[in-house]
Amino acid sequence: MNDKQLLMIPGPTPIPQRVLHALANPAVGHRTPGFSAIIREVTDKVKKIYRTESDLLTLTSSGSGAMEAAVSNFINPGDKVLVLEYGNFAERWIKIAKTYGADVQVIAGQWGRQADPQALAQALTADTAKEIKAVYATHNETSTGVTHDIKALREACGDHPAIFVVDAISGMAVSPLEVDAWKLDVVVSGSQKAFMLPPGLAFISVSPKAWALQKACQTPSFYFSLKAAKKNLDEKNTTPYTPAASLITGLQESLLMMEEEGLENIQARHARYREMVRAAVKALGLTPLAADTAASAAVTAVMKPGDIDVKQITKIMRDKYNVVIAAGQGKMEKEIFRIGHLGYITEADILATIACLEMTLKGLGWDCPLGKGVAAVQEIMLKG
Ligand SMILES: Cc1ncc(COP(=O)(O)O)c(C=O)c1O
Repeated sequence: MNDKQLLMIPGPTPIPQRVLHALANPAVGHRTPGFSAIIREVTDKVKKIYRTESDLLTLTSSGSGAMEAAVSNFINPGDKVLVLEYGNFAERWIKIAKTYGADVQVIAGQWGRQADPQALAQALTADTAKEIKAVYATHNETSTGVTHDIKALREACGDHPAIFVVDAISGMAVSPLEVDAWKLDVVVSGSQKAFMLPPGLAFISVSPKAWALQKACQTPSFYFSLKAAKKNLDEKNTTPYTPAASLITGLQESLLMMEEEGLENIQARHARYREMVRAAVKALGLTPLAADTAASAAVTAVMKPGDIDVKQITKIMRDKYNVVIAAGQGKMEKEIFRIGHLGYITEADILATIACLEMTLKGLGWDCPLGKGVAAVQEIMLKG
């Protein structure tokens, strides 16, 4: 039997039974008053998770669609933008910005480290003509297991007029992110992470400052026109094009679950998962890529032990134990493996994952002390 997999990748995450039931509801008319009421309800609830009073638009796309919208709606060809590049997903900002003809300045840092607020402050201070239109940052860099200090990075921008754009696709709801209080202008996230849904919905918040930049933007946009999305939402509580209606019905249920748990509790739960996984891998003599102070609560990236092939680790975990974990990405593809621990995950899932990891590593010849990682997780579980 291999259809019961334990999904421990950093998204898509497992889907709760309650949400699966909601997803299985009969098709609904997406232009009906009833569905408009659902769109209004989920929009208001996602805004609460975002901690924003600004506009929140739901797009039918994966997270990358919202990232593209966060460029195409604000940036004219030739505009200067600044990207903080500390991982594979930050690189995506560079690729998208270049696709739209932006003049891209990059602050590149070591993968596995947090972005440096001082370097950002220096780059913006050097822009005396205030030509940089937008700063693109990443909240939780899924490829390295690092959560960046978005508050400090935003503060480093001071009163520079650039909009501050954040990819919070894997960090939203997992770790604190105060969209309004921290003055974040555009923030994107996706349904297949802490929202515990399949992929297919993306969310994007837009501040008044960002709307002002959007008005000056000549770049054509059709499907991902945020102006069209706002008009439809404001006037009719609907979307310009057919929304992924089933996913929105599922979202209604997952938001109910998130509301029942409470945002602070969700974040505390994920922080505990981080503690468990890091304690376990350290107990096994492995090294997490990120320092304790920068470690993600959504995913832990672990340096490969010795010269063991990372692909072998993920393959044995999947084929022999039905536990799906991830290899590295981009330039770290072969250097790390990643254990996702976000969304609909339990402490027992982590226990099982660590137990299987121990056996996998032992099978691959690593001198792995069986039970030590499991015991580290148990100690934390027992503390309650
Ligand atoms: C931080 C981050 N940014 C961007 C993406 C891309 O999102 P999607 O795969 O939904 O297009 C992901 C997906 O894992 C991500 O984790």
